[in-house]
Amino acid sequence: MKHLFITTSLLTCLALPFSTFAQSSSTEQLDQEARNIAKQFLAQLKPELQKSMKSDGPAKTVAFCHTKAPEIAKKIAQKTGWDINRVSLKPRGENATPDQWETAVLKRFNNQLANGTPPKTIEFSAIVQVGGQTEYRYMKAIPTGNVCLACHGSKIAPPIQETLQQFYPNDAATGYSKGQIRGAFSFSKTL
Ligand code: HEC
Repeated sequence: MKHLFITTSLLTCLALPFSTFAQSSSTEQLDQEARNIAKQFLAQLKPELQKSMKSDGPAKTVAFCHTKAPEIAKKIAQKTGWDINRVSLKPRGENATPDQWETAVLKRFNNQLANGTPPKTIEFSAIVQVGGQTEYRYMKAIPTGNVCLACHGSKIAPPIQETLQQFYPNDAATGYSKGQIRGAFSFSKTL
């Protein structure tokens, strides 16, 4: 009994400084969670995208991306309780138009790339106040690879162009070259 009392009071004493510490210092734990979510997203999308490109060709894969990408985002959001999205300065998808904060971060990412930062390492996170609520926000750059150029490059084959036009009449997500930042993951969590 005595032992229990000591333990509890010790914990009580420690709890305060610890929670203050957690709030005011680094976002490392949340960053790690966000990186894991990005990994999960890619692990679910990329193999299926590549499979569909091989078996059905890029024109049909446009339809695949149209349904599958938002579906994966929704599933991960339900599982984690986070807000999950992908955004771009030249958006294609329905929800891909960046807000003010995301626009600033995407521009910062392009500057970092121009200054020689390897695109795979480019990320940014912050704790922000939104309408009286505290939110953790995270973004991670998505670089353009060779396989992406069929649908995001400068020379898009006519059948793909046609399909893109059908699904995305306001598509801005073309004209990219390998190594450029296509867009970014954008996740947030209310704290
Ligand atoms: C078969 C065509 C196709 C290929 C190949 C492709 N994409 Fe896309 N991409 C799309 C479509 C279609 C969307 C819109 C999805 C939606 O409706 O949410 C999209 C959306 C995106 C988005 C979200 C932002 C936005 O503008 O909507 C990013 C980021 C992205 N693609 C990156 C890539 C990368 C990186 C690759 C290569 C690894 C790639 N894509 C390959 C068709 C493709």
